[in-house]
Amino acid sequence: MFRVGVLASGRGSNLEALLRWQAAGALGAEVVLVLCNRAGAVALDVAARCGVEAAVCTQAKGQDRESAQMELSARFDDRGVQLVVTAGYDRVLAPAFVRRWQGRAMNVHPSLLPAFGKSLHAQAEALQHGVKVAGCTVHFITEDVDGGPIIAQAAVPVLPDDDVATLSARILEQEHRLLPEAVRAFALGRLHVAGHKVSYAGG
Ligand code: GRF
Repeated sequence: MFRVGVLASGRGSNLEALLRWQAAGALGAEVVLVLCNRAGAVALDVAARCGVEAAVCTQAKGQDRESAQMELSARFDDRGVQLVVTAGYDRVLAPAFVRRWQGRAMNVHPSLLPAFGKSLHAQAEALQHGVKVAGCTVHFITEDVDGGPIIAQAAVPVLPDDDVATLSARILEQEHRLLPEAVRAFALGRLHVAGHKVSYAGG
């Protein structure tokens, strides 16, 4: 089975979506390791509930981000991970990590990139900007934060009475479909990258 490693920091609802698809036999892949940079993150409970190996890996005092993240990379290597998914991971990945996982790491971002990238508050920025359509993007991770080749996007309307909570919930519902679909497509070898363009060989 194709092996996936997940990086998470918080609530873990995207991790949960992946594990739901996995349990239903629809992911075409198995999440074999979840690494979390925050002790107490709900994502750890999600992993435990689903019987998936998980660990907290924090950056040691005095340690730089790159060496801390290369330890994460080594742990994924040890578990035979073939794809790394950042699902609500709140750190920027260091260049060495990105190079190591080039073409084999994907992220889900709650905006229609390239709008509102490089932000942990993309939904609030979308509302502030007054956009009428928002959404989410799954993309390959490159050193250009939130700028890598786009795998899939889903749009949702912005409604007149929306606040950050209502818009985020509407977007999140799409993330929970889009991310597992993208992982499945990758695991089945259906994604082809040419320059900045990703195409999907259906089937
Ligand atoms: C999601 O909206 C994701 O796009 C963003 O952070 C949020 C994480 O949610 N990067 P969760 O931890 O998966 O519930």
